[in-house]
Amino acid sequence: MKKILITGGAGFIGSNLVLSLKDKFEIYVLDNLDPQIHGENIEESYTYKSIKNNCNFIHGDVRKKNDWIKVLDCGIDTIVHLAAQTGTGQSMYEATNYTNSNCIGTTILGDLLQKYDSIEKIILASSRSIYGEGKYLDSLGNVVFPNSRNSKDLDKGIYDCLDPKTGTPLILQPTDEDSKIQPISTYALTKFFQENYLENTCKAKNITFFGLRFQNVYGPGQSLKNPYTGIISIFSQRIKKGQDVFIFEDGNESRDFVYVLDVISALNSAVEYDSLTNQILNVGFGKPTSVFEVASTLQNLIGVECKLIKNSAYRIGDIRHNFADITKIENTFGFEPKFDLYTGLGHFVNWLNTQSEEPDLYLKSLSELKQKGLLK
Ligand SMILES: NC(=O)c1ccc[n+]([C@@H]2O[C@H](COP(=O)([O-])OP(=O)(O)OC[C@H]3O[C@@H](n4cnc5c(N)ncnc54)[C@H](O)[C@@H]3O)[C@@H](O)[C@H]2O)c1
Repeated sequence: MKKILITGGAGFIGSNLVLSLKDKFEIYVLDNLDPQIHGENIEESYTYKSIKNNCNFIHGDVRKKNDWIKVLDCGIDTIVHLAAQTGTGQSMYEATNYTNSNCIGTTILGDLLQKYDSIEKIILASSRSIYGEGKYLDSLGNVVFPNSRNSKDLDKGIYDCLDPKTGTPLILQPTDEDSKIQPISTYALTKFFQENYLENTCKAKNITFFGLRFQNVYGPGQSLKNPYTGIISIFSQRIKKGQDVFIFEDGNESRDFVYVLDVISALNSAVEYDSLTNQILNVGFGKPTSVFEVASTLQNLIGVECKLIKNSAYRIGDIRHNFADITKIENTFGFEPKFDLYTGLGHFVNWLNTQSEEPDLYLKSLSELKQKGLLK
């Protein structure tokens, strides 16, 4: 039986992946059970509890060479590298922490690849954040990749990406894999580093590499404790308590929300797919949804009255829109997302209703951003 290592396998995506692969492969998980994600008492972590009896669990840290050695000594064939710090805003003032976990945690693996001949394939969770604003058309129909928006416009309530020649809004397009790479946040930079580094290192060592660029993943198991990431868990917990929900800008900013089981299906394909060449693939639903629409759909599904407040605030470095062109992954894996947003959010809310209430750390995370000058 093949041996698969899933780093970060106790997290949201990782735990769903463990459960989907456990009957076909021998699964190893390396995870440090970060308290920001799992809470101080790991026995209360929903995702850790769901996998601990379904894998060989190594409580360890990707920043520590000996923890990698402990698990690689088991004779691993495939590595799915998910362990990471994931908060875009937080990464701007904890850059060293993010770089250590995401970059150094990956180069330690790269250094060790010399020693371990058994490793045939590495699959990395990359991110759409590396595209920055992504792909647009200007008024003449030319493809453009705008820079991040400037504070002068944002302060005046001009949120769209503008054509510098005409001052009119650019026209949003699906972002394909050949689009310009423009990481804005430290998080995005670390994700691009991981992808570029592993792609080159694997090529040199004849290891198959898949870089899967996830859009915004949501669904049962996403951390309800981590206030630094995941608007769906943040909004839904506030709605459930009848608290006001603050929506940045004018609420029309949009993202591509992809249900976790669709992402798991892409990861399963990457595990099973034989490829002699490296593959970089977008993973998304392939359609944009505005943040306001997400909040109001959640409110309908949860059924609690509260105010959805578009507060014109904005986060430095946030993008306006992005959604994936999924043609390449459709052609490569036959990938087809099965969960539309309404269905996926329905499953998420059903799961949320089985979970106990978490302390509200969201406002604290916003005031941290404000203090650091990152929220205007
Ligand atoms: N969820 C999304 O929307 C999304 C989007 C794009 C990319 N990704 C990427 O997918 C991967 C998984 O994301 P997720 O949403 O499941 O995150 P998550 O926070 O739920 O899980 C991450 C896991 O990694 C572990 N971890 C963190 N630092 C570690 C370290 N130094 N050593 C060992 N383990 C460590 C945590 O304890 C956690 O269990 C990440 O690499 C993330 O960057 C996620």
